[in-house]
Amino acid sequence: MLHALTSARLEFIVDDTSGSLEVVHLGSPVGRVDPTSFSAPIPEGGIDHLAPISVLAEAAAGWMGKPGLRLHRGGTVVFPRLDPSTVTSDGSSLRAVACDPATQVSVTILATLHDAGVLELVVELRNDGAPLTVDEVLVTVPVPHASEVLQFSGRWSDEFHPMRHPWEWGTFVVENRSGRTSATRFPLLMAGTAGFAEQTGTVTAIHLGWSGDGQVRADRLPDGRRILQAGEIFGAGEVVLDTGETHRSAPVFLAHSAEGLNGISDSFHRYVRARPTHVAAERPVILNTWEAVYFAHDLDSLSALADRAAAVGVERFVLDDGWFLGRNDDRRALGDWVVDPAKWPAGLDPLIAHVRGLGMEFGLWVEPEMISPDSELFRSHPDWALADPHHDPVRARHQLVLDLANPSAYEHIRQSLCSLLDDHDISYLKWDMNRDLVAPTDSTGRAGGRAQTLAAYRLIDEIRRAHPDIEIESCSSGGGRIDLGILARTDRVWTSDCNDALDRIRIQRGASYLIPPELMGAHIGPNRAHTTGRTHTIAFRGATAMFGHLGIEWNLLAATDDELAAVERIVSMHKAHRALLHGGRTVRIDVEDAAVSAFVVVDPDQDEAIVSVSQIATSRGLPVGPIRIPGLDLDGTYRLERLALDERRLGMAKQQPAWLEGVEISGRQLAVAGLPMPILNPETALLLHLRRR
Ligand code: DGJ
Repeated sequence: MLHALTSARLEFIVDDTSGSLEVVHLGSPVGRVDPTSFSAPIPEGGIDHLAPISVLAEAAAGWMGKPGLRLHRGGTVVFPRLDPSTVTSDGSSLRAVACDPATQVSVTILATLHDAGVLELVVELRNDGAPLTVDEVLVTVPVPHASEVLQFSGRWSDEFHPMRHPWEWGTFVVENRSGRTSATRFPLLMAGTAGFAEQTGTVTAIHLGWSGDGQVRADRLPDGRRILQAGEIFGAGEVVLDTGETHRSAPVFLAHSAEGLNGISDSFHRYVRARPTHVAAERPVILNTWEAVYFAHDLDSLSALADRAAAVGVERFVLDDGWFLGRNDDRRALGDWVVDPAKWPAGLDPLIAHVRGLGMEFGLWVEPEMISPDSELFRSHPDWALADPHHDPVRARHQLVLDLANPSAYEHIRQSLCSLLDDHDISYLKWDMNRDLVAPTDSTGRAGGRAQTLAAYRLIDEIRRAHPDIEIESCSSGGGRIDLGILARTDRVWTSDCNDALDRIRIQRGASYLIPPELMGAHIGPNRAHTTGRTHTIAFRGATAMFGHLGIEWNLLAATDDELAAVERIVSMHKAHRALLHGGRTVRIDVEDAAVSAFVVVDPDQDEAIVSVSQIATSRGLPVGPIRIPGLDLDGTYRLERLALDERRLGMAKQQPAWLEGVEISGRQLAVAGLPMPILNPETALLLHLRRR
């Protein structure tokens, strides 16, 4: 029998008659279907039937690609046959149970199609026999339309580089073994029709909602069929099920669009926004102290910084790294979560009271999953560091990983965090995690990466239960832990340590394929970016940060009066449009000229929009052709006005387009004919506001 889960953009149809839960369709809705229409020919020269593309692709059913389950019992391979005995579905969720008495393995496949058009797949694997080692659990779906793949790579301070490849044959694998989500091997893969772009093409996206080791794969099978797969990567012997035990997989998320990449991100954004834990709209403007003072904390200068922050409109003041016992640089003190009496003789309360008195919330940086070899905690508990019994652990940023699977270590850190929150008026934690896990094994030699991620999740969940009003930011050396697993329990990500506006345009665009702008930390840095050395005008920095969860990462005590006035203008402009910026639909615009990056944020009723056009390099030809603006009501008429952040002057031109002085224009003209672009200097941005008449 066929079972269909259907939403406006994505339909998932499975067939349970072939002896497994076969995915016969994942794509745009197809309407009424005839079961025979999915039957495919069986070529000569191979096995006598076509192995179905089932959610758990089965070697025992003839599957010769990577199987959905790799299992063994003490070296004896276990190939279960997963013929579903019951499949129940209500049109938006499906539960299929298959028991294989021969191998004493059973699975439950849970498929949920969220209203937003995002399909979530989870597998529960139960062992009823002798201890069973689980080497791999991968879900598989077909992507018959795809001939190009897009993945994202990068590094610290340079996240989200899009990388495209033609996919004529073979396998693309994004394999992450860093123990965190990873900026280098980001677990999101898109596969689509040739030339798929922001506004055009048919695309399917697969994402692993997990903050540890994992893989996303695009595989073209020898018989020509194309599939996507995703799942965790386990260390050797990491998942062993005793009799009666169940393993639950990390969730895999899928989105599909026949309207290019914008449809993918629209589905992901809607899904994230519909989650019950999603933050209220209109995120408070932040000042984060890291680049302002680094480890040099003292009450007077931070109080003065708070004064300046409040004066320019900041609503949340976040004290970054450097506040705890002996933390004078990044070589020491992780684990000693008590306030440093040398820097803070009267504790943090005087600063917190000052910040609160200025009407701002107070936030604090922590890195609970780590331990410095030079710390009181390590001196008392050297066995609490995650290290194998035979070798010295590899250090990263001079630090080790705290073994959170050790109940004593876990409990110590839980209590330390709870005491901090009980004893201080803190409403926000910037939760950092600054190193890869390298060959993570506990003191008994057992692989421990997965347990570490699960324990970090549990710790965050427990802290939130004990302090329900707290908000948490997920930071991992900038954007090293951005995924839908961590975002089920956190409220913001630190997108990148790069506050260079030029690089940020690309980084934020890359992050926007998965997460909506209100979750994306975006800060105005100083004139000269700390991580690249480049200088940009305040207008360009503001125009870039404006489109995320706005913050400031700059020692405002060193800013001139003119700069402070400009920051205040940017903050108040952001606040004036915040409901739109944090609740609207982001539509990235395909612009032929690679020197221009543009997108529009449109409110759900299409009454209002803000267009951002950034000149990221010098265009080869001038003037740049018209920019066509999608996403508006084609039949609506809009009043268009330029939002000037600071500088009125654009590029050198004898004359700029007359519409820049304001115009009334139809949504159709904007979408079809577009607007001739003014001449812009490189590394400047143009913001346009549209309101329906
Ligand atoms: C890495 C983060 O990405 C930075 O923003 C800052 O919090 C530092 N860690 C502090 O050590």
